[in-house]
Amino acid sequence: MRRISLNEVTDDMTLAKPIYQGTKLILQTGAAELTKYKEKLNNIGVFSVYVNDPVSDDITVPDVVCEQTREKCKATLRLVCDHLRQQGNFHEPELAEIVTALLDEIFQNKDILISLSQICTVDDATMVHSVNTTIYSVLIGVKSGLSKEELKELAEGALLHDLGKIILNESILLKSSALTQEEYNHIKLHPSLGYEALEKKHLLSDASRLVVLQHHERLDGSGYPAGLKGDEIHPYAQIVAISDVYDALTSERCYRKSLSNYRACRILQEDVRSGKLNGAYLDALLSNVAIYPNGIVVYLSDGTHGIVKSQNPGFPYQPVIRVIDDRDPDGKVSVYDLDLATRTEVSIVEQ
Ligand SMILES: [Fe+2]
Repeated sequence: MRRISLNEVTDDMTLAKPIYQGTKLILQTGAAELTKYKEKLNNIGVFSVYVNDPVSDDITVPDVVCEQTREKCKATLRLVCDHLRQQGNFHEPELAEIVTALLDEIFQNKDILISLSQICTVDDATMVHSVNTTIYSVLIGVKSGLSKEELKELAEGALLHDLGKIILNESILLKSSALTQEEYNHIKLHPSLGYEALEKKHLLSDASRLVVLQHHERLDGSGYPAGLKGDEIHPYAQIVAISDVYDALTSERCYRKSLSNYRACRILQEDVRSGKLNGAYLDALLSNVAIYPNGIVVYLSDGTHGIVKSQNPGFPYQPVIRVIDDRDPDGKVSVYDLDLATRTEVSIVEQ
């Protein structure tokens, strides 16, 4: 399979990953004649899809957490949010259960490099972002030697980190143009609002609740809501800060396209250099993500392009590429696999 932009979809392709809108399945794996769905998908905020076609049929995109568990996490989180919106308080006995299932799955698959970025619709974006942020945070936690009990606290905080956003004005959250200062100040209330909503919930640990309160704090004191510095910020909130930014940069939103993993890593490294984010936690994340994920199109220094086919462990910049060589003046296209770890004279120049 490979990931392509919606504009590039043709009718000889079939869908390789299902598309959900909320809990509703919009298109299932294997769906054909995809061009007729382009407009509908575009309208609900889906701008790229995973497809199978003759050239990429045997390329797999591994996932640390399966589709079913992701959906269960989103559903549980949606229950929490609905309850908070309707009853004004937090209630979710199933949270611990789904976090345990998530942790078990991540433990089994922790050696898989993260390749998949989930396709999400506009109204699903907060849920998908929360689940992704949790998965990245747990992987950082595992690399940093946290115990199972600590990982559970970290995961519960990560899953709920943006809970306060559902109390905010939705029209501001989904706005596609630049925010006014007043609107930005409104959004900056969400850590405190989320923390207040969870304040008297003894099912959650103090550490989990501090993740909600402090995930926008920065080590140099430039964050919010309190402008805390260094060790004043709970380590779990430092971890979630990194996962939160990484997912925000690499996911598509209604107001912008996603950045490549490579560019997102560069931005985060800059934030470490300028003293905002924790470098050890970023290193832990980067050891878990594929810089050039399976299924994406890359351009090579020899003038060809191709699809990333598989990863070479320990060589994140040199995956195996399914090259599509269309340089022949007679229009003959040849397709072959090239291992960049052994053919070091060729490199990726652009994604
Ligand atoms: Fe947030």
